Amino acid sequence: MKKIRINTSSPYNVHIERGSLYQSGRLISEILKSKKAVIVTDDTVDKLYSDILINSLNENEISADVFVFPHGEQSKNLHTLGDIFNFLCEKGITRSDFLIALGGGVVGDITGFAAASFLRGIDFVQIPTTLLSQVDSSVGGKTAVDIPGGKNLVGAFKQPALVICDSDTLRTLPESELACGMAEVIKYGMIRDKNLFEMCENHDMSNIHDVMDEIVYTCVDIKRQVVENDEFDKGERMILNFGHTLGHAIEGWHNYTDYTHGMGVATGMCMITRRFCGADIAERLEKCAEAYKLPVSTEAPMSELLPFCAKDKKCESSSISYIVCPEIGSADIRKVSVGDFFALMEG
Ligand code: NAD
Ligand code: GLY
Repeated sequence: MKKIRINTSSPYNVHIERGSLYQSGRLISEILKSKKAVIVTDDTVDKLYSDILINSLNENEISADVFVFPHGEQSKNLHTLGDIFNFLCEKGITRSDFLIALGGGVVGDITGFAAASFLRGIDFVQIPTTLLSQVDSSVGGKTAVDIPGGKNLVGAFKQPALVICDSDTLRTLPESELACGMAEVIKYGMIRDKNLFEMCENHDMSNIHDVMDEIVYTCVDIKRQVVENDEFDKGERMILNFGHTLGHAIEGWHNYTDYTHGMGVATGMCMITRRFCGADIAERLEKCAEAYKLPVSTEAPMSELLPFCAKDKKCESSSISYIVCPEIGSADIRKVSVGDFFALMEG
């Protein structure tokens, strides 16, 4: 078992252990005194893991109702959020009760925002079940829903009371979802940890589960350092966006359909590295991404991607920040005018 303390404005532990879903009732009751919870999950995760969680809660005298919504990004909206609020009212949830997000980043983001806003804020626990949510979205307190104007445009910073990562749950993930998470793992290696990158290089889809606890621990610890230094995303936290500006643009170019977030991030990291770093680093990154069946280039012409980049949230008025890794394990934030970014990428 490994535990990481996240010292943000509201501190909490991330508990990393195979099989910990079965211990979740005990782990939660050590932190929260309320005996009443609502689990929020999606239909896929509900079938796989709700019963295990409910049994463990009940063994620790915590009662739980379950709110289930259809899986996928299209559910992360104000309509589902309203349904969650109504469910919480029906079940008589008070400020001393709590929510549990059981699922991937979609479940975590919407449940966190519900917890941030219901009754002006109640506690919530994250039990992430995708690799992406274990290594990234469950830690750091960003919560949000999508609106027609864009992804994650309405949200709040709300740190969870506890995060429980059971890497055994990742064994039921489809390969494409595992690949999505691996794009973020490779990102952490590139921006902060050469050993982590080498661990990714030395494995592939067939054996990465063997080292999953170590991977999750290392990534969460990197996220801890970044989030503790810049909880409210004013500077350093931006390095977590390595590959994301171009990645989001590629996802947008594909109308967010057949191109997953992880595919976008992998391609974005490779494009930036090829443009700004040595060929040796670019080749290693591409080889590593390919081992996890991630794409390393796109058919989308740069001239059609750049307008998407200009609309990115990381773009402040006329300037754009992008992340470059001059060496494996270190990252620089570079801020240029949108015009200069276009010239650099097209040059
Ligand atoms: P997701 O939550 O949609 O999960 C992906 C799919 O995997 C879903 O169909 C889900 O039902 C299924 N699934 C989940 N766990 C499973 C399991 N153990 N076995 C089998 N299937 C399982 O997607 P995601 O990639 O986890 O998260 C993406 C979301 O996270 C996006 O909305 C993104 O904006 C958000 N995000 C948030 C942050 C943050 O800091 N808050 C960071 C990165 C991403
Ligand atoms: N996933 C980026 C962040 O948490 O800041």
